Amino acid sequence: MPKRMLVPYLALCLLPATAHAEGARKPQVTRVAQGQETVQKDVPFVPTREETVTRMLGIAGVTKDDVVYDLGSGDGRIVVMAAQKLGARAVGVEIDPVRIQEANTNAKAAGVTNRVEFRQQSLFDADIKDATVVTLYLLPSVNLKIRNKLLTELKPGARIVSHDFDMGEWRPDRKENVGDDKVYLWIVPASVQGTYRLSVPTAQGEAPATLTLKQEFQDVSGTLQIGNRRLPLAEVVLQGDALSFRTAEGPEMHFRGRVEGTRIHGNVMPAGGQSRAFTAQREGTSP
Ligand SMILES: C[S@@+](CC[C@H](N)C(=O)[O-])C[C@H]1O[C@@H](n2cnc3c(N)ncnc32)[C@H](O)[C@@H]1O
Repeated sequence: MPKRMLVPYLALCLLPATAHAEGARKPQVTRVAQGQETVQKDVPFVPTREETVTRMLGIAGVTKDDVVYDLGSGDGRIVVMAAQKLGARAVGVEIDPVRIQEANTNAKAAGVTNRVEFRQQSLFDADIKDATVVTLYLLPSVNLKIRNKLLTELKPGARIVSHDFDMGEWRPDRKENVGDDKVYLWIVPASVQGTYRLSVPTAQGEAPATLTLKQEFQDVSGTLQIGNRRLPLAEVVLQGDALSFRTAEGPEMHFRGRVEGTRIHGNVMPAGGQSRAFTAQREGTSP
């Protein structure tokens, strides 16, 4: 955002979310002349600078195989660039019909109408499940309000990029400065918390084991119990649906697998032994 716009914008950010609107006297309500339509905005329109749009799409690694959603798409610049420069399919979700009109005009001028779509609706109601990348330039309070929607509706491995604002205690996987702007990246983690049954290779042969995982967003900790020995886990890394960890004590074993619903399957490598396949099955239903 240009510096001259930063101060008034941050002043807006300090107001409660319900008080953000372009018509200061009627917070949260913008009257639009055509059709006497009334739209309730949660964030004012402030466009992202081109350099920052480029970086947002870059940090997310957008390619032609992606489906990019910009929630609160304004004049459509992120959607249009994702389609025009990177060949992605892209969807803008925007509540203000005036912005939708501008975005459609911009898409036409850029020659990308076959790959983009603008939906006039609230971002809270948007069906986002086919998005592989979601871009945001909202407000801290709005990011927090949609965090759970993003975590539950997007597939593990989907990337979320936010201009300037974070997601509270959901730590970003990456953060960069672009001039005065900040760009945050999160990778949606699979849901892994729970207790799993599996069998593991030991010096005495195969043994039944219980894997217990605790999860805070992408941060996972846990134990592997073999007989009456409970071994803490170390170097637990969850990125999308890819999970790896090792035992921190006792017989050393390295696990590398993929999460598929209530199962984790992959390979386990005991120290000095041969790698072999494992499947861990979660007990009960998802937390
Ligand atoms: C800060 S602008 C960002 C525009 C664009 N994403 C960009 O980065 O250039 C936020 C946009 O969100 C739209 N908006 C506000 N509340 C919304 C809601 N509940 N649902 C959808 N769009 C909303 C505003 O009209 C505005 O165009």
